[in-house]
Amino acid sequence: MTNSHLISFAEKYGSPLYVYDADIIESQFNKMTKAFAHVHQLKLNYAVKANTNLAILKVLKNLNTGADAVSIQEVKLCLKAGFSPNDIHYTPSGISFDEMEEAVTLGIKITLDNLSILEKFGNKYPNIPVCVRINPHVMAGGNHKISVGHIDSKFGISIYQIENIKEVIAKTGTIINGIHMHTGSDIYNIDAFIQSTEILLGVVEQFDTIEYVDFGSGFKVPYKDGDIETNIEKMGKRIGKRFNEFCKEYGRDLTLIFEPGKYLVSGSGSLLVKVNVVKATPNSVFVGVDSGLNHLIRPMMYDAYHHITNISNTNESEQKVYTIVGYICENDTFGHNRKLNIVSEGDLLKIHNAGAYSFSMASNYNSRYRPAEVMTYKGNNYLIRNRETFDDLLNNQIDVDI
Ligand code: LLP
Repeated sequence: MTNSHLISFAEKYGSPLYVYDADIIESQFNKMTKAFAHVHQLKLNYAVKANTNLAILKVLKNLNTGADAVSIQEVKLCLKAGFSPNDIHYTPSGISFDEMEEAVTLGIKITLDNLSILEKFGNKYPNIPVCVRINPHVMAGGNHKISVGHIDSKFGISIYQIENIKEVIAKTGTIINGIHMHTGSDIYNIDAFIQSTEILLGVVEQFDTIEYVDFGSGFKVPYKDGDIETNIEKMGKRIGKRFNEFCKEYGRDLTLIFEPGKYLVSGSGSLLVKVNVVKATPNSVFVGVDSGLNHLIRPMMYDAYHHITNISNTNESEQKVYTIVGYICENDTFGHNRKLNIVSEGDLLKIHNAGAYSFSMASNYNSRYRPAEVMTYKGNNYLIRNRETFDDLLNNQIDVDI
């Protein structure tokens, strides 16, 4: 999408503004599908937590993805977007049994990640096949906060507890029809994927009722020019080949599932922010924008790098170093010491890679409104969420007489 397109959106809908290019989502989907084209049965379940706007969900549903949901509310958003219950995999951790029951009533596929719940679920629903999430004890991921497949992680049933799974299902009669894992996010090292694939297939081998194997996700996307990204073609070749061989040994064509979030949507999104102040101090030149950690928390939470460009001034011959900060009453910073084309108050900056875990992690901290969202797709523009208003801040508050 060109800078002038982005500027015209900000003029029309104001700033800060999230803008998504859904053609990029479609091309990421196609790239991934192509990389695994030789797998007989492949299903991509979009990890909806990355971005749950209904329009984005619809784009993905129309591409024939399934959905990976982690709360009953996400399940309901997927249903609202038109996913069929059979295409929604519910992969929660540590939720109440009531939510699980609600998902069963809605006809959703369930993944369990706890022995006691496996037993409770099996006693109540012996005829409903389930998937179990295994913790392979592999350390992978771009930051310790998003590494979830290691031995100290709360997720999954330990690879050392397979015998316990067998005992539980012998007692309850539950059929295990899927095996799942997810080891982390922003993993660029294919070897980590291969290692955990082998571990997971070793588990599949021990059950003869498996229909699908879900390798989760964690594919690393580039955050700036020349950045490392997971080599999806190589992954496709190696894991696809191994999976096909495994299916032969297993004696059945299993479905291979991935649950990409970032890979599909991260690069499609931008957060447009306006420069309120340029502030020179003895040590830095701060650029203060009309947004903050309330709208995009990734830099503060994971030290994530988001590329930032000045789309109001495209003259690259003169650049300066700036620290781009938010308007929240904390040290919220989008980027330290970044070279930008000369910034003036009133300029629009584009924060890149804001399609995943950006709006979906936004809040009303400092009682600010969450931004509007716009999507472009196949030459059409859509406003897909209104900016919040003061009424939204008051919503559900009870103004008691004191
Ligand atoms: N499947 C499961 C079970 C997951 O827990 C996740 C992400 C995914 C799939 C998708 O992973 P992805 O393709 O997006 O790497 N908020 C963090 C990322 C947290 C990821 C949580 N689980 C961030 O902004 O980096």
